[in-house]
Amino acid sequence: EYRGVIFDLDGVLTDTAHYHYLAWKRLAESVGAIFDEAFNEQLKGVDRMGSLNLILAASGKDFSEADKLTLADEKNLHYQSLIAQLSPADLLPGAAPSLQLIRAAGLKTALASVSKNAQAVIERLGIADQFDVVVDAAKIKNSKPDPEIFLTAAAGLGLTADVCFGVEDSIAGIRAIKSANMFALGIGSPAVLTEADVVIAGLHQFSLQDYLK
Ligand code: BG6
Ligand code: MG
Repeated sequence: EYRGVIFDLDGVLTDTAHYHYLAWKRLAESVGAIFDEAFNEQLKGVDRMGSLNLILAASGKDFSEADKLTLADEKNLHYQSLIAQLSPADLLPGAAPSLQLIRAAGLKTALASVSKNAQAVIERLGIADQFDVVVDAAKIKNSKPDPEIFLTAAAGLGLTADVCFGVEDSIAGIRAIKSANMFALGIGSPAVLTEADVVIAGLHQFSLQDYLK
Protein backbone atom coordinates (compact mmCIF):
# COMPACT_ATOMS: atom_id res chain seq x y z
CA GLU A 1 0.00 0.00 0.00
CA TYR A 2 1.48 3.33 -1.07
CA ARG A 3 1.63 6.16 1.43
CA GLY A 4 3.43 8.91 -0.48
CA VAL A 5 3.64 10.31 -4.01
CA ILE A 6 6.66 12.31 -5.14
CA PHE A 7 6.05 14.56 -8.13
CA ASP A 8 8.43 16.12 -10.59
CA LEU A 9 7.28 19.60 -11.61
CA ASP A 10 8.40 20.67 -15.10
CA GLY A 11 6.52 18.62 -17.70
CA VAL A 12 4.41 16.74 -15.13
CA LEU A 13 2.27 19.34 -13.33
CA THR A 14 2.75 22.15 -15.86
CA ASP A 15 4.25 22.46 -19.32
CA THR A 16 7.31 24.46 -18.25
CA ALA A 17 9.40 21.70 -19.88
CA HIS A 18 8.47 23.43 -23.14
CA TYR A 19 9.79 26.77 -21.86
CA HIS A 20 13.05 25.15 -20.73
CA TYR A 21 13.23 23.64 -24.24
CA LEU A 22 12.74 27.01 -25.95
CA ALA A 23 15.32 28.71 -23.74
CA TRP A 24 17.94 25.98 -24.16
CA LYS A 25 17.29 25.83 -27.92
CA ARG A 26 18.02 29.53 -28.34
CA LEU A 27 21.17 29.22 -26.25
CA ALA A 28 22.33 26.09 -28.12
CA GLU A 29 21.86 27.79 -31.48
CA SER A 30 23.79 30.85 -30.27
CA VAL A 31 26.85 28.65 -29.56
CA GLY A 32 26.47 26.56 -32.74
CA ALA A 33 25.24 23.32 -31.15
CA ILE A 34 22.66 21.21 -32.95
CA PHE A 35 19.52 20.99 -30.86
CA ASP A 36 16.73 18.55 -31.66
CA GLU A 37 13.96 16.77 -29.74
CA ALA A 38 16.11 13.69 -29.02
CA PHE A 39 18.89 15.82 -27.53
CA ASN A 40 16.30 17.74 -25.52
CA GLU A 41 15.09 14.48 -23.94
CA GLN A 42 18.63 14.01 -22.56
CA LEU A 43 18.46 17.43 -20.89
CA LYS A 44 15.10 17.02 -19.15
CA GLY A 45 15.45 16.59 -15.39
CA VAL A 46 19.13 17.60 -15.49
CA ASP A 47 20.11 20.69 -13.50
CA ARG A 48 21.08 24.02 -15.06
CA MET A 49 24.88 23.68 -15.20
CA GLY A 50 24.64 20.00 -16.13
CA SER A 51 22.39 20.84 -19.06
CA LEU A 52 24.62 23.71 -20.13
CA ASN A 53 27.70 21.47 -20.06
CA LEU A 54 25.96 18.92 -22.32
CA ILE A 55 25.05 21.67 -24.82
CA LEU A 56 28.53 23.21 -24.78
CA ALA A 57 30.12 19.77 -25.29
CA ALA A 58 27.87 19.34 -28.35
CA SER A 59 29.09 22.68 -29.72
CA GLY A 60 32.64 21.33 -29.86
CA LYS A 61 34.03 24.66 -28.59
CA ASP A 62 35.77 25.55 -25.34
CA PHE A 63 34.27 27.94 -22.80
CA SER A 64 35.79 29.46 -19.66
CA GLU A 65 34.03 29.08 -16.32
CA ALA A 66 33.10 32.79 -16.50
CA ASP A 67 31.59 32.31 -19.98
CA LYS A 68 29.58 29.36 -18.68
CA LEU A 69 28.11 31.37 -15.82
CA THR A 70 27.14 34.17 -18.22
CA LEU A 71 25.46 31.70 -20.59
CA ALA A 72 23.62 29.99 -17.71
CA ASP A 73 22.34 33.38 -16.51
CA GLU A 74 21.26 34.31 -20.04
CA LYS A 75 19.26 31.08 -20.36
CA ASN A 76 17.69 31.58 -16.96
CA LEU A 77 16.66 35.17 -17.71
CA HIS A 78 15.04 34.01 -20.94
CA TYR A 79 13.31 31.15 -19.09
CA GLN A 80 12.10 33.50 -16.36
CA SER A 81 10.61 35.85 -18.96
CA LEU A 82 8.71 32.86 -20.41
CA ILE A 83 7.24 31.86 -17.02
CA ALA A 84 6.50 35.39 -15.81
CA GLN A 85 2.78 35.12 -16.59
CA LEU A 86 2.30 31.56 -15.28
CA SER A 87 -1.02 31.11 -13.45
CA PRO A 88 -3.28 28.28 -12.20
CA ALA A 89 -4.61 28.07 -15.77
CA ASP A 90 -1.21 26.61 -16.72
CA LEU A 91 -1.66 23.46 -14.64
CA LEU A 92 -1.75 20.47 -17.00
CA PRO A 93 -5.07 18.57 -17.28
CA GLY A 94 -5.46 16.22 -14.31
CA ALA A 95 -2.71 17.83 -12.22
CA ALA A 96 -4.87 19.61 -9.63
CA PRO A 97 -7.46 16.79 -9.38
CA SER A 98 -4.70 14.18 -8.92
CA LEU A 99 -3.09 16.14 -6.09
CA GLN A 100 -6.46 16.62 -4.42
CA LEU A 101 -7.47 12.94 -4.76
CA ILE A 102 -4.15 11.71 -3.41
CA ARG A 103 -4.27 14.02 -0.40
CA ALA A 104 -7.95 13.30 0.27
CA ALA A 105 -7.10 9.57 0.36
CA GLY A 106 -4.61 10.29 3.15
CA LEU A 107 -1.41 9.85 1.15
CA LYS A 108 1.39 12.38 1.51
CA THR A 109 2.70 14.43 -1.40
CA ALA A 110 6.16 15.81 -2.14
CA LEU A 111 7.70 17.84 -4.92
CA ALA A 112 11.11 16.78 -6.28
CA SER A 113 12.42 19.30 -8.82
CA VAL A 114 16.07 20.17 -9.50
CA SER A 115 14.92 23.60 -10.74
CA LYS A 116 15.97 26.69 -8.82
CA ASN A 117 12.72 28.22 -10.09
CA ALA A 118 10.52 25.46 -8.63
CA GLN A 119 9.22 27.39 -5.61
CA ALA A 120 8.25 30.41 -7.75
CA VAL A 121 6.52 28.12 -10.28
CA ILE A 122 4.38 26.25 -7.72
CA GLU A 123 3.40 29.58 -6.13
CA ARG A 124 2.26 30.99 -9.49
CA LEU A 125 0.38 27.78 -10.22
CA GLY A 126 -1.36 28.09 -6.85
CA ILE A 127 -0.30 24.60 -5.65
CA ALA A 128 2.44 25.46 -3.13
CA ASP A 129 0.18 24.32 -0.27
CA GLN A 130 -0.47 20.94 -1.91
CA PHE A 131 2.87 19.43 -0.86
CA ASP A 132 3.93 18.18 2.55
CA VAL A 133 7.56 18.53 1.45
CA VAL A 134 9.25 20.51 -1.34
CA VAL A 135 12.75 19.41 -2.36
CA ASP A 136 14.42 21.66 -4.92
CA ALA A 137 17.95 22.49 -6.10
CA ALA A 138 18.76 24.28 -2.85
CA LYS A 139 18.30 21.09 -0.82
CA ILE A 140 20.34 18.58 -2.82
CA LYS A 141 23.90 18.13 -4.10
CA ASN A 142 23.30 15.77 -7.02
CA SER A 143 20.96 16.28 -9.96
CA LYS A 144 18.73 13.54 -11.35
CA PRO A 145 19.54 10.76 -12.42
CA ASP A 146 21.06 10.52 -8.93
CA PRO A 147 18.38 9.20 -6.52
CA GLU A 148 19.24 11.83 -3.87
CA ILE A 149 16.26 14.11 -4.56
CA PHE A 150 13.68 11.28 -4.32
CA LEU A 151 15.31 9.79 -1.22
CA THR A 152 15.40 13.25 0.41
CA ALA A 153 11.72 13.75 -0.41
CA ALA A 154 10.74 10.36 1.05
CA ALA A 155 12.77 11.03 4.19
CA GLY A 156 11.07 14.43 4.48
CA LEU A 157 7.70 12.68 4.36
CA GLY A 158 8.91 10.26 7.04
CA LEU A 159 8.42 7.34 4.63
CA THR A 160 10.57 4.55 3.24
CA ALA A 161 11.13 4.21 -0.50
CA ASP A 162 9.00 1.07 -0.85
CA VAL A 163 5.80 2.92 0.11
CA CYS A 164 6.43 5.86 -2.23
CA PHE A 165 6.11 6.25 -5.97
CA GLY A 166 7.57 8.90 -8.21
CA VAL A 167 5.96 10.69 -11.16
CA GLU A 168 8.31 11.89 -13.91
CA ASP A 169 8.42 12.99 -17.55
CA SER A 170 12.19 12.70 -18.03
CA ILE A 171 14.59 9.84 -18.71
CA ALA A 172 16.95 11.15 -15.98
CA GLY A 173 14.06 11.42 -13.52
CA ILE A 174 12.78 7.88 -14.13
CA ARG A 175 16.32 6.63 -13.63
CA ALA A 176 16.54 8.57 -10.35
CA ILE A 177 13.26 7.03 -9.11
CA LYS A 178 14.35 3.51 -10.02
CA SER A 179 17.77 4.05 -8.35
CA ALA A 180 15.84 5.12 -5.24
CA ASN A 181 14.03 1.75 -5.42
CA MET A 182 10.62 3.31 -5.96
CA PHE A 183 7.83 2.57 -8.40
CA ALA A 184 8.17 4.93 -11.38
CA LEU A 185 5.11 6.37 -13.11
CA GLY A 186 6.17 7.92 -16.41
CA ILE A 187 4.34 10.82 -18.01
CA GLY A 188 4.77 10.94 -21.77
CA SER A 189 5.74 8.30 -24.31
CA PRO A 190 6.64 4.65 -23.48
CA ALA A 191 9.11 4.77 -26.39
CA VAL A 192 11.08 7.48 -24.56
CA LEU A 193 10.54 6.45 -20.92
CA THR A 194 11.60 2.84 -21.41
CA GLU A 195 12.72 2.34 -17.78
CA ALA A 196 9.42 3.43 -16.20
CA ASP A 197 7.16 0.83 -14.57
CA VAL A 198 4.05 2.31 -16.17
CA VAL A 199 3.69 5.21 -18.63
CA ILE A 200 0.57 7.34 -19.10
CA ALA A 201 0.16 10.27 -21.48
CA GLY A 202 -0.66 12.75 -18.73
CA LEU A 203 -2.11 13.07 -15.24
CA HIS A 204 -5.61 13.25 -16.80
CA GLN A 205 -5.13 9.45 -17.14
CA PHE A 206 -4.06 8.98 -13.52
CA SER A 207 -6.21 6.68 -11.41
CA LEU A 208 -5.48 6.49 -7.69
CA GLN A 209 -7.26 3.11 -7.52
CA ASP A 210 -4.26 1.52 -9.27
CA TYR A 211 -2.08 2.48 -6.29
CA LEU A 212 -4.41 1.60 -3.41
CA LYS A 213 -3.96 -2.14 -3.12
C1 BG6 B 1 14.36 20.61 -14.38
C2 BG6 B 1 14.08 20.66 -15.85
O1 BG6 B 1 13.16 20.48 -13.69
O2 BG6 B 1 15.02 21.79 -13.94
C3 BG6 B 1 15.35 20.99 -16.63
O3 BG6 B 1 13.56 19.42 -16.28
C4 BG6 B 1 16.01 22.25 -16.07
O4 BG6 B 1 15.00 21.17 -17.98
C5 BG6 B 1 16.26 22.06 -14.58
O5 BG6 B 1 17.24 22.49 -16.74
C6 BG6 B 1 16.94 23.26 -13.91
O6 BG6 B 1 16.09 24.36 -13.91
P1 BG6 B 1 16.49 25.82 -13.45
O7 BG6 B 1 15.16 26.52 -13.34
O8 BG6 B 1 17.19 25.70 -12.12
O9 BG6 B 1 17.40 26.36 -14.48
MG1 MG C 1 10.27 17.12 -15.68
